[in-house]
Amino acid sequence: AKVTFIDAKGVRREVEAPEGWSVMEAAVKNDVAGIDADCGGACACATCHVYVDPAFKGKLPPKEEMEETMLDFAQEVTPRSRLSCQIKVTAELDGLVVTVPKDQR
Ligand code: FES
Repeated sequence: AKVTFIDAKGVRREVEAPEGWSVMEAAVKNDVAGIDADCGGACACATCHVYVDPAFKGKLPPKEEMEETMLDFAQEVTPRSRLSCQIKVTAELDGLVVTVPKDQR
């Protein structure tokens, strides 16, 4: 599936993400800047925070309690905020667009 990351300056970058990867892995493995992912995807750091394009809101799995809890540690959280390590890439999410915050802490 294709995932597009938009950085804080508005620059778009589309990467190919195999199904089963997390959106965070797709970013890290493609050197997308701005996703620190300090905990490596364990939902324990909140430095993989992204803003999901509203068009995809209904296609994402709901947040689990742990994600909600960790998001409290992210900066400038909005209703579009998700932890990208908790979003699994699926065929349905092809074309997903997420915006990377300007700062992860
Ligand atoms: Fe640490 Fe997502 S990588 S919470």
